[in-house]
Amino acid sequence: MSETNNVSQPLKILLLAAEVVPFVKTGGLADVTGSLPPAVRALGHDIRVVMPRYSRIDPRRFNLTLLPTTFAVPIDNRTELGQLHESRLAHDVPIYFVENARYFDREGLYMYPDDAERFIFFCRGALEGVRQLGWQPDVIHCHDWQTALVPNWLKTTYAQDPFFARTASVYTIHSLAFRGVFGRRVLEIAGIAEYEFTASPDGTRDGQVVDFMARGITYADVINTVSPTYAREILTPEFGESLDGLLRQRQDRLFGILNGLDVEDYNPATDPHIARHYTAETLEQRAENKAALQRYAGLEVVPDVPLLGAISRLTDDKGFDLIQAALEPMLQHLPIQFVLMGTGEERYHRFFLDLAQRHPGRVAVFLTFNTPLARRIYAGTDIFLMPSRFEPCGLGQMIAMRYGSVPLVRAVGGLVDTVQDYDPATQTGTGFLFRAYDAWAFYAAVVRAVETYRYADVWRRLQQRGMQQDFSWQASARAYVDLYRLARALRAQTEGMVPRTP
Ligand code: GLC
Repeated sequence: MSETNNVSQPLKILLLAAEVVPFVKTGGLADVTGSLPPAVRALGHDIRVVMPRYSRIDPRRFNLTLLPTTFAVPIDNRTELGQLHESRLAHDVPIYFVENARYFDREGLYMYPDDAERFIFFCRGALEGVRQLGWQPDVIHCHDWQTALVPNWLKTTYAQDPFFARTASVYTIHSLAFRGVFGRRVLEIAGIAEYEFTASPDGTRDGQVVDFMARGITYADVINTVSPTYAREILTPEFGESLDGLLRQRQDRLFGILNGLDVEDYNPATDPHIARHYTAETLEQRAENKAALQRYAGLEVVPDVPLLGAISRLTDDKGFDLIQAALEPMLQHLPIQFVLMGTGEERYHRFFLDLAQRHPGRVAVFLTFNTPLARRIYAGTDIFLMPSRFEPCGLGQMIAMRYGSVPLVRAVGGLVDTVQDYDPATQTGTGFLFRAYDAWAFYAAVVRAVETYRYADVWRRLQQRGMQQDFSWQASARAYVDLYRLARALRAQTEGMVPRTP
């Protein structure tokens, strides 16, 4: 390895993402991009974050400072002006917000007809913005499709640019389900020449579309996803969403790093939202949280009936077709209660509202998302359901274990990597797993859990094993730093090379 990649040398890392906690969040991506940078910084590296300056981000609440200089951002054969605001994440990590009212002064984050152009502007603005600051990153860490053209530019548009010529890229896939597929016109907007066109990496598309995710995978020096199991699964047609062929080609560059959890924020010993604080040693006090949740949710206040919970987007991806099929028979045959929080497909809204009406005192449904109630559900339920069809990592199961709610999950992706199936013979495990994507396999796992719940001592030890798991970011942050160094080493090999033409 060259001296520029000395393992003790601090790195300069630019992390780009469309959402970051605490500024805006629509999914687990934002938890990662909010927690990883402070953990990397704690290891001694200069990591900085850039995200769009959405108008919904309150400048006073977050102490945004507008930096004085504007800079030119090339887009669609013209230039737009960009500007940066600055704030801080935990651990004093600098975060910059790319401002341009035309693109980001909107009510929502996504789902606009010009989303491709908006995120092209954001990414190009981030690159030109750090140039303006004179801060030259060793590595750019991109997340999901919104930032996936950056590895492409680094190998083409910026390949001969002295400022970025040595910059390596790491591309993290949070979910293949959200791809960023647009018409060819976006190449012009992005300033990417036709000859660099790689529209059909898998041969299944007709060349008339541009798949941002596929481009990130094609051009990044290193690719990773958010659990080792999902990294293997996406090499197969079942989980590969038609990119498995491309991913297999780049398999030697593909890694899986499990997400961590912000264990300071998610802590039942200090959580300000719950009725009673507790630890693995004082689990008996947790009962107060169950009673408080039952009261709040209008459930019968009974201590010994297992209370099942779910917090999720209400979609098939998250296994709600299984929950829908199995819940009614479960309520008929098993002594259970059920509480749900989340929003999603309309048909699930109707189904769950109707179910709650038919089972007063046993089923409670909150078609919303709010943090205080989420915390009370983690602290008050006995069993936490995640029957996902696929799950790149998943956060809920880790939070549930930390709060002593026993996860019952499908054996896919990050769920396999974080939950160990309970084995009555050896008294080991931290939850309940089922394999087939089938309502009866799910039902059978619930029967196992409810049966185990009857043995209070056994159950308590099961909860304690979950609470004692280490899900902190430290190990993952170290693994990312190794990945950044690998990306640099691989980048050094290709430096100055003419881009591959398809
Ligand atoms: C996506 C995945 C989820 C993962 C999250 C953060 O939302 O669906 O499994 O935990 O990204 O990486």
